[in-house]
Amino acid sequence: MSKKTGTKETISVFGAGWVGLVTAACFADLGFRVIVRDVIPERIAELEEGIVPFYEPGLTEMLARNRERMHFTLDVAEAVAEADVLFVCVGTPPTYSGDADLSAVWAVIDELPPLEGRAILVMKSTVPVGTGKKVRAALDERGLDHIGYVSNPEFLAEGTAIDDFMHPDRVVVGAFFESDGERVSALYKQIDAPIVRTDVFSAEMIKLASNAFLATRISFINEIANVCEVTGADVEQVAKGMGLDRRIGPHFLRAGIGFGGSCFPKDVSALKQLAGNSGYHFQLLSAVIDVNELQKRRVVGKLTQHLGSLADKTIAILGLTFKPDTDDMREAASIVLGSRLLAEGANVQAWDPMADPDSYLHGARFCESILEAVEGADAAVIVTEWNELRGLASKDVREAMRRPLIIDGRNLLDPDEVRAAGFAYECVGRPSEQHAGSAGGSAVNSERNPS
Ligand code: UGA
Repeated sequence: MSKKTGTKETISVFGAGWVGLVTAACFADLGFRVIVRDVIPERIAELEEGIVPFYEPGLTEMLARNRERMHFTLDVAEAVAEADVLFVCVGTPPTYSGDADLSAVWAVIDELPPLEGRAILVMKSTVPVGTGKKVRAALDERGLDHIGYVSNPEFLAEGTAIDDFMHPDRVVVGAFFESDGERVSALYKQIDAPIVRTDVFSAEMIKLASNAFLATRISFINEIANVCEVTGADVEQVAKGMGLDRRIGPHFLRAGIGFGGSCFPKDVSALKQLAGNSGYHFQLLSAVIDVNELQKRRVVGKLTQHLGSLADKTIAILGLTFKPDTDDMREAASIVLGSRLLAEGANVQAWDPMADPDSYLHGARFCESILEAVEGADAAVIVTEWNELRGLASKDVREAMRRPLIIDGRNLLDPDEVRAAGFAYECVGRPSEQHAGSAGGSAVNSERNPS
């Protein structure tokens, strides 16, 4: 129960990043008093003024309407003074070895002062299996054995994070003590979702295994798509036919240019390293990573089959973020693709409605509009399935391009419509012109080059 009001628990959130702010805003929206603590002074100052440092649909509005229930601070003592439950939502980026960097987690633990009553530290950050045990030991060693520990991983996807928090498929709560698990479960009682109560190790593994499995599905369907390209099958039809099998299900079977973002690449690698460090070689995950790396580069092969050498060719990269409805470019396919094209000597003209690409893709020209990006281009590559790109196969675009060639890395467009509009068109795992109506032969027909 709350130290302050005697009713709802008071929640502290450590880390005003994407997971922390979504978690804080959603708990505030559920009626909890929430204190957000971060170590970056500018971030706290901005949040006090209602400025959210990244784009997540609905978040700015949610923070604004719950402003009176929220407090932002740099001061750890202030953050914990009245808190009953302390959520750790700091970043755990990959190190060079592929392990998770837990320094921000340890910084939180090291700073914790002794607390009144039984406060509970709740780990939302994605951490290796076994972290909870180590944190428990560190707390005990510091004389903080009165602080409980619970693992409560997040399953929020960028772009839909608020909905994912409020309407989750499940809430996972892993505890060392039954009563701690009950208190954390109770925070979610207004949310209609099954609560999976586990031990701490299993909760940590559920998070990593879920992300690794979703990534595996994507690499699997991407390999199916690549085989479709050389056999004449259509991966969209294949995915539909597979997904209707309830044992398989329809989700995460969209073939494309590969997965990116701050989670899948990091977590697949972290699970592989975790297994390796424990003496087990997780072969499947090595393949998932390899397939994903190759998938980003296959576009270059498709371009060269149409254009020959890419030196001095102009290529429009349309979409830079790792998926739509975010401004996040971390591990985006656009970075690898753009860098490869620049290395081949191509001129890269890039467009994205949200990304701030300054620190990525040095040497590319960033354009304000789609039309500016395709001006004089020998090919346009769709990397992110932004809605704005649905009308790409237009007369204006065709006339602006030097060669009307579209490579659709997300199967966003209708092949028949694009070809009828006078473009040469390549996509992922759907029949090329050569295959339309017949199977067999090579997927990419270089004779289609319209120039
Ligand atoms: C992912 C998970 O979906 C969340 O459940 C999880 O909480 C989050 O990671 C995390 O660990 O924090 P996110 O990275 O935001 O969320 O994005 P996703 O929507 O899962 O997409 C990841 C990547 O896979 C994107 O590049 C997307 O384009 C790609 N993708 C997704 C495909 O290529 N095909 C698909 O069928 C689905």
